[in-house]
Amino acid sequence: MRSFALLLSAVVLATSTSASSLFTIPITKLSRSGSYLKGSPAADRARASLLKSRTSGGSTTVPASNLAYVQYTTSVGVGSPATYYNLVVDTGSSNTFVGTGIPYVKTSTSEPTGETVNVTYGTGYFSGIEYYDQVTLGPSFVITNQSIGDALSYADFEGVDGIVGVGPTILTQGTLTPDTDELIPTVMDNALKQGLIDEEILGVSFVPATSYNDTNGALTYGGTDDSLYTGAITYTPVTTTYPAAYYWGINITHSDYGETTVIPVSTAGIVDTGTTQVLLADNYFAEYMGAIPGAFLDDNTGLLEIPPSSVADMQPLNFTIGGTVFSMDVAAQLIPEDQNTAWGGEAGKQYGVVANLGSNSGEGLDFIMGQKFMENYYAVFDTLNSRVGFAYTDHTFTTYSG
Ligand SMILES: *[C@@H]1O[C@H](CO)[C@@H](O)[C@H](O)[C@H]1NC(C)=O
Ligand SMILES: *[C@@H]1O[C@H](CO)[C@@H](O)[C@H](O)[C@H]1NC(C)=O
Ligand SMILES: *[C@@H]1O[C@H](CO)[C@@H](O)[C@H](O)[C@H]1NC(C)=O
Ligand SMILES: *[C@@H]1O[C@H](CO)[C@@H](O)[C@H](O)[C@H]1NC(C)=O
Ligand SMILES: *[C@@H]1O[C@H](CO)[C@@H](O)[C@H](O)[C@H]1NC(C)=O
Repeated sequence: MRSFALLLSAVVLATSTSASSLFTIPITKLSRSGSYLKGSPAADRARASLLKSRTSGGSTTVPASNLAYVQYTTSVGVGSPATYYNLVVDTGSSNTFVGTGIPYVKTSTSEPTGETVNVTYGTGYFSGIEYYDQVTLGPSFVITNQSIGDALSYADFEGVDGIVGVGPTILTQGTLTPDTDELIPTVMDNALKQGLIDEEILGVSFVPATSYNDTNGALTYGGTDDSLYTGAITYTPVTTTYPAAYYWGINITHSDYGETTVIPVSTAGIVDTGTTQVLLADNYFAEYMGAIPGAFLDDNTGLLEIPPSSVADMQPLNFTIGGTVFSMDVAAQLIPEDQNTAWGGEAGKQYGVVANLGSNSGEGLDFIMGQKFMENYYAVFDTLNSRVGFAYTDHTFTTYSG
């Protein structure tokens, strides 16, 4: 299940990133006016909530970094004393592992489980040895006896040290040898079992990045943080449609782009922090692309290229989820031009964040709402109640000033 194409596409994109893109930043054409900007009230509230982090039986909020514009990482300690690793935050997979950047530093708390581990992602893979170790997710938030992988061979994890897998536990099935049927309790499972959290809930706050490594996000282990969203959270049940149901899968009941219907019927797909873009089944994507004059899929980058002349007339892309409309405004649909190089594109072009899935609808996984959708909304992954929530934020709507 975890080998679906395009999961962890963040990692694909990251590999085409080079440090040089740091130094080729033209004038920003797309300026976002959201209050996620540094020094803003939202950023300050995010920091404040970090300071409130508790040690047990509640919830803990830790920072997350928007790295290279295309993925979110968080700092995770392993061992005692802990070595800290920058791990991709992935709701689309459930194994936690280190070693693809900084090698795994074993300490007295590191104990081999006797299993080897091998996980294949949409792009890339890792294989290695499984250990029990102490995992530090935040200050005084320490999980003991967490099963983690030591990646000894791997591909496509440039710039990061591994993954913290916060998807459903079932996704770990088949990753261990010789006990191929064994499931690996995730960090969320163990945090609950060990009393560090009261509820197996993950709250995710992502925000569009304004720099190459922008620590603008927050993860709340064990609950939601009401300083990071506005209004009420709309919940929708985890879908019963497979294969989406193996993941944090939900149904979108309708989608419009302006006056054009993009998704006409209730359709299952997944919410995945490990995918950068918003991907729609090819036939749905065709409706969207067809409604933007002159837009086409660029073969070189795989990105939607939009003629600059069409941008001014672009419309909101709206998704109905749990009876509430969640809109991606024009700014949210576009890649800021100063990020083109980081996304593998060319300077001076306008690319979009929505792309095609690579197959038509009707296969039980017809969209992936990735990082770029989540940058507009607060997201909640609730295991016990088997539901996903979204809420508006004070950076849901931004302005286009091209
Ligand atoms: C890991 O799994 C992949 C795909 O199932 C397989 O091709 C590869 O040989 C495996 N690697 C190891 C080291 O077991
Ligand atoms: C660690 O967890 C595994 C199951 O995940 C269990 O079999 C083992 O006994 C635990 N070890 C300790 C020291 O708690
Ligand atoms: C990104 O910034 C965070 C916070 O300053 C830091 O902990 C992390 O190491 C940085 N990541 C990279 C890949 O430089
Ligand atoms: C899409 O959402 C925006 C923002 O909520 C709203 O103004 C607009 O009317 C919606 N469009 C449609 C076709 O529902
Ligand atoms: C979810 O979408 C699938 C199609 O992907 C459909 O068969 C199913 O009935 C939908 N479920 C709901 C509750 O609408």
